[in-house]
Amino acid sequence: MSAVPLLDLTALPAEQRLGQLVSALDSLSAGQSVTVQTTAQWDDLLLGLQEQRWGQYDWRPVSDPAEQRTVLLVRLQSGVGQSIPAFFTRDHHHCDALYAETENAANDGDTARMAEYCRQFLAAMTHHFQMEESGLFPAFENKTGMRQGPTMVMRSEHEQMRGLMRQMLQAAETGDAELMLKAGGTLLFVMQQHNVKEEQMLYPMSEMHLRPADALLQEIQRL
Ligand SMILES: [Fe+2]
Ligand SMILES: [Fe+2]
Repeated sequence: MSAVPLLDLTALPAEQRLGQLVSALDSLSAGQSVTVQTTAQWDDLLLGLQEQRWGQYDWRPVSDPAEQRTVLLVRLQSGVGQSIPAFFTRDHHHCDALYAETENAANDGDTARMAEYCRQFLAAMTHHFQMEESGLFPAFENKTGMRQGPTMVMRSEHEQMRGLMRQMLQAAETGDAELMLKAGGTLLFVMQQHNVKEEQMLYPMSEMHLRPADALLQEIQRL
């Protein structure tokens, strides 16, 4: 992945942060990103961003939330729309790209780069699961009354993947490229099958039942 510019909001007065964030987003071309360093107030900034620029960006966690947050803000192509399938499929692609970087680094034996990408990958996956398990799945279950169906299968596959993700974290922490490739390879296999089921079945079904989904997706984006 190519280097992206950094926007450090932490030193700015709170009332200037949203303005800076919106200007940074507006200055990007479609597909470009900026890494944003911010504070625990990210949730407030996100709310402002949703009010002013909904549909024009995606955001992703770069590291686990703590006192200070680092997030990636991506400019979307105009008119891309915020349907459930589009929103979640883009996030799958983001996770896939981070996995590929982790695997490349492991193959190169570059354990420092491997650990860095692995942490980003795990943060992205954890966030993705959270958006599904605490946002999309409950909305689907409440609307359709189907609680023992596709979402139950998806949740159990998430658990299976979480076990493999723990092994990947261990590999990152110990610099074990071999374990990374082994656990990662199995995870990739499970994840590909899982994502196909979601993209071809669960997301389109959800869109059908929950459309228009902007309000729901805004809620999910704040999870
Ligand atoms: Fe999933
Ligand atoms: Fe998913």
